[in-house]
Amino acid sequence: MPTTLAPHNLDRLLEAARAAQGRAHAPYSRFSVGAAVLDESERVHAGCNVENAAYPMGTCAETNAIGAMVAAGGKRVTAIVVVGDGKVLVTPCGGCRQRIREFAAPDAPVIVADRDKVRAQFTLAELLPHSFGPENLQA
Ligand code: THU
Repeated sequence: MPTTLAPHNLDRLLEAARAAQGRAHAPYSRFSVGAAVLDESERVHAGCNVENAAYPMGTCAETNAIGAMVAAGGKRVTAIVVVGDGKVLVTPCGGCRQRIREFAAPDAPVIVADRDKVRAQFTLAELLPHSFGPENLQA
């Protein structure tokens, strides 16, 4: 079961992720994504995908939201919302799952939404089972 996310914090995350999606720099894929993370102090940090003419240099919305959190002094991701369009759910890519893993508990909610509604909710452990994380490096 995912950690409970207060409805007002879900609303804050959705609003921030949707606003970020609207600012995505995605001229190549034309696929705009927004993400927002809630930190341990209930602060919201948002990011969007930022593509590049050198295609592999593009970065995902989730990665940039996490970077914004770290830069602002946040230490933990207690929930993340990802907003994208299309028929198929916009779940975080494999690399972003690992980046979320660095800062989030296994039961942290990963919520997939679009411009109108929440479409699905997972735990991080559902998306990245048997994962490798900071604890593995402890003696
Ligand atoms: N993208 C994200 O930002 N997050 C995801 O969860 C899936 C994919 C971006 C990367 C690229 O800019 C575009 O969406 C198409 O893959």
